[in-house]
Amino acid sequence: MSKNPKRIGILTAGGDCPGLNAAIRGIAKSAMLEYGMEVVGVRGGFAGLREPDTFELDDANTSGILTRGGTILGTSRVPPFGEDEEKRALESDYKTPFQQHYERLGLDCLVCLGGNGTMTAAHILQRMGMNVVGLPKTIDNDLAATDVTFGFRSACQIASDAIDRIHTTAQSHHRVMVVEVMGRDAGWLALEAGVSGGGDVILIPEIPYRIEAVADYIRERHRRGKPLSLVILAEGARAADPGADDTLGKGAPKFSKAHSLAQELEDATRLQTRVSVLGYIQRGGSPVQFDRVLATTLGVRATELIVEGRFGEMVAVDNNDITSVPLERVAGRTRLVPPDHHLVKAAKKIWTCFGDE
Ligand code: F6P
Repeated sequence: MSKNPKRIGILTAGGDCPGLNAAIRGIAKSAMLEYGMEVVGVRGGFAGLREPDTFELDDANTSGILTRGGTILGTSRVPPFGEDEEKRALESDYKTPFQQHYERLGLDCLVCLGGNGTMTAAHILQRMGMNVVGLPKTIDNDLAATDVTFGFRSACQIASDAIDRIHTTAQSHHRVMVVEVMGRDAGWLALEAGVSGGGDVILIPEIPYRIEAVADYIRERHRRGKPLSLVILAEGARAADPGADDTLGKGAPKFSKAHSLAQELEDATRLQTRVSVLGYIQRGGSPVQFDRVLATTLGVRATELIVEGRFGEMVAVDNNDITSVPLERVAGRTRLVPPDHHLVKAAKKIWTCFGDE
């Protein structure tokens, strides 16, 4: 283990999100300016270390990126390890291309910015003998061992603003509007955006819904003189009793299932129903103020971990404190919405429907 890290690499993997560039800037500037390190940018996620595609980061190319969406490094979802590669590397002298290129590039540490899959891969690389530090990002906010990930607040703001706009059309036309937000396994985004946008129905993967319960609720609203209803659907939400063609809840579907849900609701309520799938709009554009600050702070803390030789850890937020946790506490885990979460309880007390009662 290198005592005085001189040269570090940074990669971003998995889906992009607002705040990645702010974090890259935080890591790179503190590493270069404060600690005199050299910083290498790895292009396209783990793929850029397997078949090396790298460039030197400097003060110029890490300036002016704080507010920029996406990632200047590029990203990919390419699975890092080939079949049996992980087992071979952990159980024999075999060195993966990652280890070989890490050594050839003269790196003392690799900083991996990503979500669940990235932290799992980072943990494996650490076990293979590389020095790794992780940073938590995802609009899904579903990483274990951190209260929040950067990108989440930006996505919530985008989704909440979109719901506000859809609200006015729902009002004008007296329609049921199904708004699908991202959230493959966890419903944090649907829950927060749904509450802030005044969603009448919020459907999340952690609380399986019954279509009759949702339809009854909408019909009852109608009877009480409320001619519009907003249904906020997380893409991974699932029916408690899926019908023959119901594929909701089987991970993120490639194509939205919001249309089939809308059709079921229209059939059941006889109310005109429309769909808006927000999709990648939620991952794009400039990070909100909260994410800029969080990404910068976590980025600088990642550099400090490197200086302190605390490899194999991910920077994290615990009760407003910036801290770090061993990667093994994050790898392979997903932080789901507890069905009795305070926000679910509060929403239920203002009679928001989750389709379970
Ligand atoms: O992990 C973040 C996320 O936006 C999920 O909410 C969504 O299911 C998934 O990424 C979409 O991934 P892709 O970029 O591969 O289409």
